Amino acid sequence: MKSSLLSVWTAAVFLALFSQCVSGKDCMCELKNLARPFPMEKLDSYHTAANQCVKSMNAAKLVEVDVLMLGLQQRLEQLEKSVSVLEKEDDGDLYGAVSLRIIELELAEVLELMDKLKKTVNSHKQLSGSTATRLESMTKGMKELEAFDLSHVVIKERENLRVKRELAQCQLERQATPRPPTAPPQRCPQGQLVNVTGPRTYGLTQYGTSYYYGTWGKDPKPAPGKEDMYWLVALTSSDVYANYVRHYSSLSTILVGVGPVDTVIASSNPTTNTIMGPNVVQYGDALYYGCYYTASVCRFNISTRSISNTPLPKNTGINNKFPFGYLDVTYSYTDLDFATDESGVWVVYTAPDNFGNVILSEVKEGSPPSLGRTWRTSLHKRTATNTFMVCGVLYATRFLDKQTEEIFYSFDTVTKQERYDLKIHIKKMQTNIQSLNYNPRDRMLYAYSDSYIVSYDAVFQ
Ligand SMILES: *[C@@H]1O[C@H](CO)[C@@H](O)[C@H](O)[C@H]1NC(C)=O
Ligand SMILES: *[C@@H]1O[C@H](CO)[C@@H](O)[C@H](O)[C@H]1NC(C)=O
Repeated sequence: MKSSLLSVWTAAVFLALFSQCVSGKDCMCELKNLARPFPMEKLDSYHTAANQCVKSMNAAKLVEVDVLMLGLQQRLEQLEKSVSVLEKEDDGDLYGAVSLRIIELELAEVLELMDKLKKTVNSHKQLSGSTATRLESMTKGMKELEAFDLSHVVIKERENLRVKRELAQCQLERQATPRPPTAPPQRCPQGQLVNVTGPRTYGLTQYGTSYYYGTWGKDPKPAPGKEDMYWLVALTSSDVYANYVRHYSSLSTILVGVGPVDTVIASSNPTTNTIMGPNVVQYGDALYYGCYYTASVCRFNISTRSISNTPLPKNTGINNKFPFGYLDVTYSYTDLDFATDESGVWVVYTAPDNFGNVILSEVKEGSPPSLGRTWRTSLHKRTATNTFMVCGVLYATRFLDKQTEEIFYSFDTVTKQERYDLKIHIKKMQTNIQSLNYNPRDRMLYAYSDSYIVSYDAVFQ
């Protein structure tokens, strides 16, 4: 064992002089044993230990506490508000009872957050305790090694590391392995999407099981005073059309189904400029959706109830021409899919000139809205069940089985890199997910699944 480690080390010393890349194809080096005995195993074990220390002190873990604290603060504010509403309302009547139930739900969420926070803080304490001990013993050990360092082994070792890195780089270039997609850091401070956990919430809406297709969520850029609101659009005609959006004052009220406010787009359903298809989003106090029977993006201004629109490219599939689906199942009238992320609103669609493969466009907020940059992907739209955007990266899901939906695909709009090998699983509560969207404000995924509304936490690294 000792002699083999030693020869690795001496080879590396010699490599400092002779490693080279020949025409970018082969990595060559000559080996020659030069060294006197040195306790390399010890040095190696300190390296391993140092690497472990760095990993366990990962800054992301520290940020986690901040996020939890922020969440807790928000929930406490919400709780305070609800209690004061209850105080005003409590006439011993039904409404008081409903408010009390809402407060109970909020209190449960606060307790859950506190519990999480406690666990996180505990694990950090253990972390820094053991890290300090390890650092101390490593420092001592390194001093001993330095005393042994008659032949300047430790200094050479540093040089060796540099050469090893260069050699690894050389090998990497030969293999030309594609790097994983990364969103620009300034747009995505939370890192990459690595998992989806939950469901966090799951329930029927006030409509019960009447409407199989729909969508819901929370405005990522809410109007002042509407920060806590949730919106809900059910396709109330033929599972295809909708002519109003419903708003609730909080998560609890949408789950309990009390006090909705309806904002009507048009009095009949369907008609010009009403909603066609389930993949609607709300952003900046406006709804973005596919307009009834036209290949265009409609925007409904919720406060003024005015509608503006912008056309999609000629031949864009609408009217159930290019829906999402799996096997012989299609999610009807899902030709257009709207998405929100850190940078705004996006639309996913396709056309025959891209062979039914997904096309992605930015939707710019101006008045009227307009299409911004456009990307063509190789993802066949019929093979995906849904798409959503996070930090300028498009993600697509597919149906694995009744319990599991899989995020399998990503397209990075900055690097234009596509991947088909993601394996992030979403635990389903019902068989189909008709709409799925990411909210960059609370970093959650909102799904409408066979009449049920479900939310998930997006996990980043
Ligand atoms: C994702 O989260 C689930 C639930 O917390 C966990 O069981 C699973 O191991 C995670 N998967 C990965 C790849 O981290
Ligand atoms: C909605 O209309 C109001 C009043 O004209 C305007 O200030 C606001 O920017 C509009 N919202 C959107 C998203 O266009």
